[in-house]
Amino acid sequence: MNYRHSYHAGNFADVMKHAVLVRIVRAMQRKERGFLYVDTHAGRGRYDLASAARGDTLERKPEWPEGIGRLWNRSRLPEVLADYIALVKTYDQKQGNLEAAPRFYPGSPRLVRMLARAQDRLSLFEKQQDEAGALRAEFARSSQVGIQSADGYAGLRGQLPPPEKRALVLIDPPFEAKDEFAQVVKAVGDALKRAPAATIAVWYPLTERARVDGFFAELAGLALPPTFAFELTVVGPAHPMKMKGCGLVVINPPYQIDQELTPTCTWMAEMLAQDQGGRAELRWLVKEA
Ligand SMILES: C[S@@+](CC[C@H](N)C(=O)[O-])C[C@H]1O[C@@H](n2cnc3c(N)ncnc32)[C@H](O)[C@@H]1O
Repeated sequence: MNYRHSYHAGNFADVMKHAVLVRIVRAMQRKERGFLYVDTHAGRGRYDLASAARGDTLERKPEWPEGIGRLWNRSRLPEVLADYIALVKTYDQKQGNLEAAPRFYPGSPRLVRMLARAQDRLSLFEKQQDEAGALRAEFARSSQVGIQSADGYAGLRGQLPPPEKRALVLIDPPFEAKDEFAQVVKAVGDALKRAPAATIAVWYPLTERARVDGFFAELAGLALPPTFAFELTVVGPAHPMKMKGCGLVVINPPYQIDQELTPTCTWMAEMLAQDQGGRAELRWLVKEA
């Protein structure tokens, strides 16, 4: 496995995924009862953007300037984005950054940990040993966080149903494996059998439309509960950039969350577009009642 999220931390895909994740956590916390957050592909939890672009063998162009960099100094952000940016700024400053540009970026487990109440728990899976080691160091003093250096798809099964009876699952794979979409569909199917009311968010890249449509068709075979897909593209379909955008499928989303996300996402698409043709689209795969 070659994937290192450090190279991508804070890019447009992280902005979209993390802003929506924060919004979902807030919505779940409207109920007093705690929930289990499972991150099947957790990463290292903390990313130093100053070294993010330094590869082992090649110098890479940092991706965060076209992501969080575009929102960092903007005033009058839509509420959903303002909430997410405020969390990132709090983390960045706490980690000691005194500069005007962002430096320390919180991954999905850290963002959720920042929001977690005493009754919420986190269960994190990260397969790469060094990334898992960094994750352990990041959460060394947190008794609410469980970390396993293991396959997140297999690990998810053992987490559901949780004693809390409420779960939020993020499935955020690197999509290096040819059968990644198939693995996701299987994991979602297994998870829904064990916890039909779990909220499950799956991130996916928009590289080939046909593969994503195939993924949706496979998901449809699971007889899904209410599910929407939110997609953000930063360039048009003819642009040479490989990953033209990304999407997030959300199964059992918080009620009416689309009403907040649609205007936010439209705004986000305008801010993050890298060429003509950037757009946002939120559509229901299975409409809520
Ligand atoms: C896109 S990154 C995760 C980013 C993280 N969720 C965030 O938003 O901050 C994907 C991670 O999954 C890890 N990984 C790859 N295959 C895995 C598997 N089968 N189980 C668990 N982790 C895996 C990679 O090492 C990588 O750190």
